[in-house]
Amino acid sequence: MPQLSLSWLGLGPVAASPWLLLLLVGASWLLARIRAWTYTFYDNLRHLQCFPQPPKQNWFWGHLGLVTSTEQGMRVVTQLVANYPQGFVNWMGPVMPLVTLCHPDMVRTVLSASAAIAPKDMILSRFLKPWLGDGLLLSGGDKWSRHRRMLTPAFHFNILKSYVRIFNDSVNIMHAKWKRLTSEGSAHLDMFEHISLMTLDSLQKCVFSFDSNCQEKPSEYISAVLELSALVTKQHQQIILHMDFLYHLTSDGRRFRRICRLVHDFTDAIIQERCRTLPDQGLDDLLKAKAKVKTLDCIDVLLLAKDEDGKELSDEDIQAEADTFMFGGHDTTASGLSWVLYNLARHPEHQERCRQEVRELLREREPEEIEWDDLAQLPFLTMCIKESLRLHPPTMGISRCCTQDIVLPDGRVIPKGVICIISIFGTHHNPSVCPDPEVYDPFCFDPENIKER
Ligand code: HEM
Repeated sequence: MPQLSLSWLGLGPVAASPWLLLLLVGASWLLARIRAWTYTFYDNLRHLQCFPQPPKQNWFWGHLGLVTSTEQGMRVVTQLVANYPQGFVNWMGPVMPLVTLCHPDMVRTVLSASAAIAPKDMILSRFLKPWLGDGLLLSGGDKWSRHRRMLTPAFHFNILKSYVRIFNDSVNIMHAKWKRLTSEGSAHLDMFEHISLMTLDSLQKCVFSFDSNCQEKPSEYISAVLELSALVTKQHQQIILHMDFLYHLTSDGRRFRRICRLVHDFTDAIIQERCRTLPDQGLDDLLKAKAKVKTLDCIDVLLLAKDEDGKELSDEDIQAEADTFMFGGHDTTASGLSWVLYNLARHPEHQERCRQEVRELLREREPEEIEWDDLAQLPFLTMCIKESLRLHPPTMGISRCCTQDIVLPDGRVIPKGVICIISIFGTHHNPSVCPDPEVYDPFCFDPENIKER
């Protein structure tokens, strides 16, 4: 039997069993990996020293828990941005750095890099995966590029134009409800709750052509979407539950899975029903006829979508995209609209000017409804909406993973492999970009002022 000399390890000659050889190969591989990892870690550390760092909690936890998705978390971001207006590094534990960017010059560099160099990272959104699957928001690589190309027609102006009528109908239902509630003596209404139902109602009609009358009577699907959103936010706020296996042991985790199934069953039933009722007429012809009269809903667009090789989306893909549109579209718009109303209520002078602008536009019109072309004829209201989205952005930040070193305009380098947070809230509240960032001033978006930005 061949003898293996392990004298360099202080061991005598040993029979070279295949297991021992395997162990040696494994150990060498592990050592090589640790060596490469350590080298990369220290190299990254060298590059990251150019970025300022807020004081750490301690060496182990780093900055974990410093920026949370709460009001206090936003105050912390405001302070960090005032101290470090270009960006800063924070550590998620002892070995994971995050580069946070909060200045447009820095953000531009990362966002204009290709999807191969700075693909989306799931650190902020991975909790949504069991719900949204591989829809556009969470997918990456070739799948994302292919679907993105296939779904671009869903956001074509001609399709969006036909939705304005749906938005008007949903808003009229909400207004009628408010009038009824106030006439019955309700002095306080929770705007966000009502507006969320209105945006969900609009989306359900735009995505599924489905009218559940959800603004007036409870709908199981709508309650499920609202509850899933609340559960995701809750999980996000509890760092210990970021570990999926722990989360799924909790009652919230089990409930999350149950409601996910309910939402998926709803979407699946609609897709199956749409496919079942179509075959006799010929799917393509019917969808094309619908496209001509511009009544396509998102499911139609998804059923029609074909890639360059004529390949269609699978039922699972269609489900993921439809669930993504419902999620991506309802909370963002409800939050954006609620804050616009809040800011106008706090500034009656701006509110009055908006009201005059709309009244002027609708003068002598019957019925008094906003149309697509009107949207460009409301410059002051547009400024008020943009300023509200600046002060209170519905999405706080997005994340990217740098697959190559990214050189920022000032020469600093975000090293390959490091995750980068683009702080939308931080950028909007950056005093070096906006002199008085906490003040609601629609003139920030006066066409004269934006020329310089
Ligand atoms: C005020 C309203 C909205 C805000 C603030 C908003 C915000 C965002 C942001 C910040 C992203 C980028 C995520 C990233 O790159 O990492 C995004 C992506 C996306 N949003 Fe929205 N959104 C809004 C409305 C909507 C609506 C109405 C829909 C659909 C009905 C929608 C569907 C999507 C989808 C599908 C993506 C993924 C796009 C892709 O990665 O290719 N969003 N949204």
